[in-house]
Amino acid sequence: MHDACAPKTEKDTRPIAEAPEKRVFIKTFGCQMNVYDSERMADTLGAAGFAETGSPENADLVILNTCHIREKAAEKVFSELGRMRVLRETRREQGGDMMIAVAGCVAQAEGEEIARRAAVDIIVGPQSYHRLPELIERRAGNRGPVIETEFPAAEKFASLPAPKLRAAPAAFLTVQEGCDKFCTFCVVPYTRGAEYSRPVAQIIEEAKRLAERGVREITLIGQNVNAWAGQGPSGKTWTLADLLRALSEVDGIARLRFTTSHPNDMSDALIAAHRDLPKLMPYLHLPFQSGSDRILKAMNRKHRMEDYLRLVDRLRDARPDLALSTDIIVGFPGETEADFEDTMRIVERVHFAQAYSFKYSARPGTPAADRPGHVPEDTKSQRLASLQALLFAQQTAFNSAMVGRTLAVLWESRGRNDGQVVGRSPYLQPVYAEGDTALIGRITDVEIMAASQNSLRAVIKNLDEDAT
Ligand code: 5AD
Ligand code: SF4
Repeated sequence: MHDACAPKTEKDTRPIAEAPEKRVFIKTFGCQMNVYDSERMADTLGAAGFAETGSPENADLVILNTCHIREKAAEKVFSELGRMRVLRETRREQGGDMMIAVAGCVAQAEGEEIARRAAVDIIVGPQSYHRLPELIERRAGNRGPVIETEFPAAEKFASLPAPKLRAAPAAFLTVQEGCDKFCTFCVVPYTRGAEYSRPVAQIIEEAKRLAERGVREITLIGQNVNAWAGQGPSGKTWTLADLLRALSEVDGIARLRFTTSHPNDMSDALIAAHRDLPKLMPYLHLPFQSGSDRILKAMNRKHRMEDYLRLVDRLRDARPDLALSTDIIVGFPGETEADFEDTMRIVERVHFAQAYSFKYSARPGTPAADRPGHVPEDTKSQRLASLQALLFAQQTAFNSAMVGRTLAVLWESRGRNDGQVVGRSPYLQPVYAEGDTALIGRITDVEIMAASQNSLRAVIKNLDEDAT
């Protein structure tokens, strides 16, 4: 007899979910790794009976996945926390309740303080969120807040459930976490902990699952992604270049990217991968932070301006169509006008397709915070404005140079207007075109018709044929 015809036992006839499903609202601040982490938290909680909701008003659990990298990022978290506490009060007045959890780097850096000041229920660091279901239970039977900020990165990755189906054809995959570089301005080594590389088999398995679910593009992420190291199936040590080669062979994956890289870990093999792997997109995020050797030394970057420029030349020799993006800090303690001019010179020399630029922000506990010579706020603002004027001009020039060219676009979602789709070029530029949503997940050639600072407009060519 077929199972479906078997007499129903009492168990069979009960409704599938006995308790009503609980709802979780997750708000993500900061970097791509936090986006990845938030999705994994949702997967973990999904397995524990929580459904994601798009608004905090009807949530049983609100998680703020936080960022501590700059003061402004941390401030945003605290103001959001205030808003959530008001919501919780209202819910309690109405006889309901809501748990508030703070996850991510602010939780790691300031957990005790938040628990004391902000009456938060759960504090969970970036390496412990796989324990969320258990922490929620502990909190329910507890009077005080539950704090979990240990660093078991290996345990976390081993116990996370497989990624759930998400509609987007481009996905992030964390391969490396933490940092041992200790740049003097940066909190990451303290909040994310020591460098940890996920094992090869786990990464390939996750990539295969993503591909089976329709993902065409994977961005490998890590704070120091090019320091990733692992052991290949034959026991040989693998670098990121070997991993990229293996991932190129996963069926369905058409595009690969990786971010963020430190210049000192751009090995010969990784440069060669940019030459040899057609699926590796010709776009690299390579922060240089400052163009002044004096400031680079004070930042403990362990590279000089000349090293960076030589590296850029070698990358462009290997892959002539490679475009670069970068991170730059202005107003690091002790930065003079001449140091800042050195930064401007690097930008003029390299020509970036895109860049993130920041005013230095003192982070408690980092060595630079205690250095003398803090730069006045208005000087920082002036330098940032000059730098951004140059960077935006370069970005616009880079985009304008695409007009009339044919580019392969991975279509990701519907556009703002009806009948419009939006995708990404190999250089991560958003591309808009008239087209059907059936295109989502496909890669087609387009002709670029117009460009602005932030996006391109295109007409789709050869609709019947997918580009590679
Ligand atoms: N102040 C300003 N910018 C910072 N970054 C990291 N720490 C700081 C800080 N304290 C920038 C760096 C880094 C990017 C992610 O954030 O440029 O590459
Ligand atoms: Fe921070 Fe990047 Fe430096 Fe590591 S390499 S300390 S993550 S800026």
